[in-house]
Amino acid sequence: MINVGIFGASGYTGLETIKILRKHPQVKLIFATSESGAGQNLRDIYPISWDMPLVAAADAPLNKVQAVFCCLPHGASMSTVAAARQESACVIDLSADFRLTDAAVYEKWYQVPHAEPDLLAEAVYGLSEVNRADIGAANLVANPGCYPTSILLALYPLLQRKLLDLTMPIIADSKSGVSGAGRKATLKSHFVEANENLSPYSIGQSHRHVAEMAETINRLGGVGEKLIFSPHLVPISRGMLSTIYVTLNKDMTAEQIQKLFQQTYADKPMVKILPLGQLATIAHTQNSHLAVISITAVTPRQLILCSSIDNLGKGAAGQAVQNFNLMFGVNESEGLI
Ligand SMILES: NC(=O)c1ccc[n+]([C@@H]2O[C@H](COP(=O)([O-])OP(=O)(O)OC[C@H]3O[C@@H](n4cnc5c(N)ncnc54)[C@H](OP(=O)(O)O)[C@@H]3O)[C@@H](O)[C@H]2O)c1
Repeated sequence: MINVGIFGASGYTGLETIKILRKHPQVKLIFATSESGAGQNLRDIYPISWDMPLVAAADAPLNKVQAVFCCLPHGASMSTVAAARQESACVIDLSADFRLTDAAVYEKWYQVPHAEPDLLAEAVYGLSEVNRADIGAANLVANPGCYPTSILLALYPLLQRKLLDLTMPIIADSKSGVSGAGRKATLKSHFVEANENLSPYSIGQSHRHVAEMAETINRLGGVGEKLIFSPHLVPISRGMLSTIYVTLNKDMTAEQIQKLFQQTYADKPMVKILPLGQLATIAHTQNSHLAVISITAVTPRQLILCSSIDNLGKGAAGQAVQNFNLMFGVNESEGLI
């Protein structure tokens, strides 16, 4: 058994991670933290039929675990990650603190200095299907953001085979359920503001996730600066759909593109490619840990890709556990399908 601790267990991604791990055959849960709920049980906070005691992060017995999941806000996560690494625990960090390779770029986008810049070199970007080998050898994995997961998985087969016209924009129009903003109430996530509404926010190149997407697109041979990203809030609790418009650098049939996507993901159990003519919807992945992608060829050079994930599933806890499985040599989809 692998002993595991969870930081931020009282948040949405923390709860989702515990829900997966408590049924994972190779995991023993050792601790779960909450600052506001320390001394209470998880059942005091959520309507669940099982339970887990909550401790303050400072009291977490790090010397008793081999791995931790950090489900904390960015900025708050980096010192906890450093403390866990100090005790030789492997870390899967769900925050943005270790997703960017350059501390100066992090500071520009997140408006806080990086307190642990030396650890950035150790971190592997945890897009499971793309960085599988590096994740398998990593001690610190930076779990990607939910929007980047949905968009990068759809772009990956085209980037990998150098099929994108690098002079043309990549336009990603994304919709997220309200749990994407975390449990703490804000005016934007207030029921009356969100319900029966559809709100764009941080559109263009201003959302923080642009930075990690651009970095990965560049690493895969594309031009990250060509990405235009329009996130929207939709009045559902969970789920995410990205509709992505791209231009190819040569004529291809829909069948050829479909085959290429199927080949890319043939041995990757958490990504499914729909048959031509079907479109990915939020319902395809809600409450699952899968990504589902559909392909529509508008012309021989123009494609619309629809990419569906659950923001708390493949967009957060599901991918985090997938990465944990890869790090510990466990079957990649253990606990997830
Ligand atoms: N929600 C999503 O769909 C999603 C998807 C991908 C990635 N993420 C990322 O995952 C992380 C967690 O997101 P979430 O949605 O689960 O957030 P959340 O619901 O707001 O939960 C945050 C958790 O962090 C704890 N916490 C807050 N400030 C802390 C501090 N200064 N020190 C220690 N613990 C602290 C909270 O504990 P208390 O009990 O004390 O409040 C709570 O357990 C964030 O970095 C987020 O960007 C979220």
